[in-house]
Amino acid sequence: MKKLRSLEDLGVAGKRVLVRVDFNVPVQNGRVISDTRVRQAVPTLTELVAKGAKVIVASHMGRPKGEIVPELSLEPVTQSLKTHMPETDISFVTGTIGQAAKTASYALLPGQILVLENLRFLPGEECNDYDVIRGLAQLADLYVDDAFSCAHRAHASIEGIAKYLPSAAGRLMAREIDSLSRALENPARPLTAVIGGSKISTKLGILENLVTNVQNLVIGGAMANTFLLADGLGIGTSLCEPDMVGTVKRIKVKAEEEGCELILPSDAVTAPALEAGIDTRTVGIDEVPADQMILDLGPKSVARLTNVFADSKTVIWNGPLGAFEVPPFNDGTKAAARQVAVLTASGELISIAGGGDTVAALEAAGSADDFSYVSMAGGAFLEWLEGRALPGVAVLLDG
Ligand code: 3PG
Repeated sequence: MKKLRSLEDLGVAGKRVLVRVDFNVPVQNGRVISDTRVRQAVPTLTELVAKGAKVIVASHMGRPKGEIVPELSLEPVTQSLKTHMPETDISFVTGTIGQAAKTASYALLPGQILVLENLRFLPGEECNDYDVIRGLAQLADLYVDDAFSCAHRAHASIEGIAKYLPSAAGRLMAREIDSLSRALENPARPLTAVIGGSKISTKLGILENLVTNVQNLVIGGAMANTFLLADGLGIGTSLCEPDMVGTVKRIKVKAEEEGCELILPSDAVTAPALEAGIDTRTVGIDEVPADQMILDLGPKSVARLTNVFADSKTVIWNGPLGAFEVPPFNDGTKAAARQVAVLTASGELISIAGGGDTVAALEAAGSADDFSYVSMAGGAFLEWLEGRALPGVAVLLDG
């Protein structure tokens, strides 16, 4: 069994410690408008400060592709961090590697924090370039990675540097890996996965991995339409991917072989178009009118999910089950998410959610707080669901 190196494995007192965080947060007019990721970085930074480390914080923001893009500066995020750590001396340096950053890193006193400029202003960051790795290594004695949401990127500040300096996972990284491992690698069963969203083509690897691992696989959102099409059902003008029908049939055979029950909608809410306030109909799944599109689960489908969740011990959730951004087509997702939240709150279920639109959908449903764990990771969560080794995690494992 491989072991994740943790902060206990590093003697940080008096040492310069480079901490990779994910400060890829939305900024408007020079202000951070959603600071969840900043807040999540605070426990590790506070612990390092308390232990007398000289802390150097590094992150990317956006995709500037090696160019200096002033709107993507980490200066506003440094201001946000200051509000969450008011007692700590936090400064910002306009460089990332090079003389200014080096001088500032050597000038740090124990318990102080220095935030570097956006790593992706460096052309070599994303290609794991040796010059960037060496430049970062000159700033620090030790490396801590607290950015699970970036662990799918084999970039210089994530993979390269971890091989170069003594390294360990931060508290957020360790908690995220622990929660996700308990859900998929060693879960309480029956294990149910809920996978929604519009395109099978973007979640194919996930579906193929999950059918070999879970007892129930709930398919929702427009993805379900392609499954219904593969069953020969009429789906009216619904969004679907006809060229994926062969793939869907293959997934169904695999699910059958593996004893995984595929759960598709048995009824649907339909409308002539995806518009707020439009007239809707609720129909059986084999009665979808030719001029209507499927836009949400119907009540029978929600009732079935309620029973499936009640019989499950673990639920993993990714993606909305209907066109949730346009009410009332968020009702199915909301009702199903509430069931999971209620069962979790009463201790009957372990529930893990993450990836892309999922957090927004669960927050809109008012259910996110009651899930056992909601991951802020997008792409990394999806790659983990696919069963892929994440380079940023692999490099922190011993044994
Ligand atoms: C994210 O927001 O998922 C991470 O910060 C990774 O960002 P990226 O997809 O631009 O690498």
